[in-house]
Amino acid sequence: MWFTRFGPILLLALGCGAPPKEPEKSPNPAQARWDARFSSPSYVYGKEPVEFLARNVALLPKGKALDLAAGEGRNAVFLAQNGFEVDAVDISPVGLKKAEALAAERGVRIRTIAADLEDFDLGTERYEVISNLYYLQRSLIPRIKRALKPGGVVVFEMFTLDNLGIPGAHGPKDRNWLLEPGELRRLFDGFEVLRWSETKDDKKAAASLLARKPR
Ligand SMILES: C[S@@+](CC[C@H](N)C(=O)[O-])C[C@H]1O[C@@H](n2cnc3c(N)ncnc32)[C@H](O)[C@@H]1O
Repeated sequence: MWFTRFGPILLLALGCGAPPKEPEKSPNPAQARWDARFSSPSYVYGKEPVEFLARNVALLPKGKALDLAAGEGRNAVFLAQNGFEVDAVDISPVGLKKAEALAAERGVRIRTIAADLEDFDLGTERYEVISNLYYLQRSLIPRIKRALKPGGVVVFEMFTLDNLGIPGAHGPKDRNWLLEPGELRRLFDGFEVLRWSETKDDKKAAASLLARKPR
């Protein structure tokens, strides 16, 4: 009698009969950090592309472009405005939402892909252009080379170790995320170098490379 009346309530309260709950996935710490960084409505890195990309866009073969670690989309959207069909990959869905908003604001479309580049397959001979701006993950280099079509071009810019010596400079403090002198060029050994520089001023030290995969 007691069970007939109160048993079902008791079982429900104890969670019996309810489907087992999936264990909650803990968010990737990098994703959580970047989502938080991009959570304000303003664009942390601005809406205009990296100057090196803007200056050299005419050298890029038209077609499909992949923007790695695209963030809030300033470079991906610029490529789309210049006639490229753009895939933009980043670990931060919050950043990518802003990238989509920027694309809409500029009247273009980009395809956004939220993924961790530590284990993301870029495909094989898929892109005319791959841009990798202000994100250094050395393990990506073989994947970038494979994903470029023959004759495709990589656009790369990243802080160098010299950046650590500039008072108040932005950028990573961990040496693993900074390029050594000449390293960027060496990473793309065998590619035809179209533009390459290592510069340092009172704001930043960076290396830039535009290089073509052999046909
Ligand atoms: C310094 S921001 C540069 C963003 C963009 N390239 C630009 O120039 O504005 C670095 C970007 O790397 C992304 N990122 C960090 N770790 C990542 C990972 N493991 N996979 C994919 N993206 C990642 C961050 O979300 C962030 O958007």
